[in-house]
Amino acid sequence: MKLFLDTAHLSDIRTAHEWGILDGVTTNPSLAAREGLEFPELIARICEITPGPVSAEVVAPEVEEMLAQARDLTAIADNVVVKVPMSKEGVTAGARMVDEGMSINVTLVFSAAQAILAARIGATFVSPFLGRVDDAGNDGLGLLHDLVEVYAAQGYDTQVLAASLRHPVHVVEAARIGADCATMPFAVMERLFHHPLTDIGMARFNADWEAYQRALAAGRG
Ligand code: G3P
Repeated sequence: MKLFLDTAHLSDIRTAHEWGILDGVTTNPSLAAREGLEFPELIARICEITPGPVSAEVVAPEVEEMLAQARDLTAIADNVVVKVPMSKEGVTAGARMVDEGMSINVTLVFSAAQAILAARIGATFVSPFLGRVDDAGNDGLGLLHDLVEVYAAQGYDTQVLAASLRHPVHVVEAARIGADCATMPFAVMERLFHHPLTDIGMARFNADWEAYQRALAAGRG
């Protein structure tokens, strides 16, 4: 399962890239609004950091306007993936984007039925929002399970990008269920590293190593 960051924050993207574990980035209008840069410049700077797919969302009510925005976005860099909302207009525009050779990510997906539509138009990614399903009192991981099962039964090529992940258990369960990719906030990615027994073990190894070096130095003296 590929690991994506769900952020537009440049220093966090750079840090995750330096960790060597970053496969791509997803953004959305809410995340972009926090960064204080014009959107095309923001996307260009993210694409300079990571060679992986960078999802940038179109925000327009009509098909032609979405298409125009998509053409502008894909001109920024080769690794831009156009995010389109799950709506009649988004799917219509998305199908035309695919015909024009663009990679698209169908976002705001909350049912397996919607995910079938994304696959049928040849989307590269489909993004079910697990955390928001949980927030509404339903089963986000259950949705992911349904979607992965339907895609496997049909042999669809569209990659399932588990989104709106809130904690490491979401990430592990998404991997277990068979998501192709998981996108998460920086804080969640950082939490994947941690385990208290690792910290205790490292402290003990370091202390033992220092004592060993001191004993050798004392022996030499
Ligand atoms: O970017 C799409 C999705 O991951 C949003 O997550 O946390 O706003 O529900 P969230």
